[in-house]
Amino acid sequence: MELKEILELALSEIKESNDLKTLEDMRIKYMSRKGLLTDAMKEMKNLTNEEKPVFGKMLNEVKSKIEAILEDKKEELDALKLQIDMKKEAIDVSLPGNEFEIGAQNPLIMVQREIEETFREMGYEIIEGDEVELDLYNFERANIPQDHPAREMQDTFYIDEHTLLRTHTSAIQTRTLEEHAPKVPVKVVCPGKVYRRDDDDATHSHQFFQMEGLVVGHGITLSDLKGTLALFAQKMFGKSRTVRFRPSYFQFTEPSVEVDVSCPFCDGKGCSICKQTGWIEILGAGMVHPYVFESAGYEDKTLTGFAFGIGVERIAMLKYGIEDIRSFYINDKRFIEQFKRFE
Ligand code: FA5
Repeated sequence: MELKEILELALSEIKESNDLKTLEDMRIKYMSRKGLLTDAMKEMKNLTNEEKPVFGKMLNEVKSKIEAILEDKKEELDALKLQIDMKKEAIDVSLPGNEFEIGAQNPLIMVQREIEETFREMGYEIIEGDEVELDLYNFERANIPQDHPAREMQDTFYIDEHTLLRTHTSAIQTRTLEEHAPKVPVKVVCPGKVYRRDDDDATHSHQFFQMEGLVVGHGITLSDLKGTLALFAQKMFGKSRTVRFRPSYFQFTEPSVEVDVSCPFCDGKGCSICKQTGWIEILGAGMVHPYVFESAGYEDKTLTGFAFGIGVERIAMLKYGIEDIRSFYINDKRFIEQFKRFE
């Protein structure tokens, strides 16, 4: 191909290159070692000595021109690319930002923390246990031997003959006593989830939270228990709700009591939630039974102590006017979100 033809072809092809990749192909086509100009240079050997310098000069001129237009085109395409990239990466500062949803605490956890705080202020230590527990700590050490009818009262999820899902946090009480014996004083609260084969209704769930309390020392009396629980109820519900202590029976306490709070849904008049009684039971309690001390390893017969087991859901229901215990467990976001304002 004639040098003139090469130049004309290069000018038009380079002009029409619309992107850097095509332009690079053009550089290779004309300027590389295997390109058209190198081919043209090979013609030199067929020329006379007079023609050679003229051809050489022309070749250099064509080479410089092609180099110059390649460079101009590259500058043009670089600028274009920059503009496109800038458009692509531009941030529209007027766009609204991403909205992040902030979760809310489950009211049960809020109430659990509040109960813990109330007792922490009274000098109690907080300890936890395991949900999978040995029959030994859940029943036997609590003075509920094999075949005792009380085991039916608390219908149990057994894992095997000796292992179960704890039915009450009193299992942490018996373990704590064993760990501490023969040391005193003991003053702990133990939060935890418990499981029972109860039929679910407005105030009963087959899994629920309890908060066990245990105080052991010399000279601890039923009055201390009453005073402590009255103070707790007042802190939780204010002075407007009435609290009553009722004699009760637990194998691991003697004497035993149960504590009810006047039903806030009917103001004590009786409704379907309180089963027409006007009261909602919130906890069981009593003076630690001598058998419980003895089986945990305490030999000192002058020791006394009290224990209680609070139903955390019941406290939350009374505090926030929640009519159905199942609301805590149905995973409805709208239910949880209502409690954001109390956090
Ligand atoms: C007990 O579980 C005893 N361990 C409490 C105790 C501890 C007594 C220490 C003496 C000394 P009870 O089964 O009554 O007791 O349960 C205690 C509280 O848990 C009840 O007052 C109630 O508030 C709550 N509760 C009981 N069963 C359920 C249930 N199925 N669903 C929700 N809350 C429940």
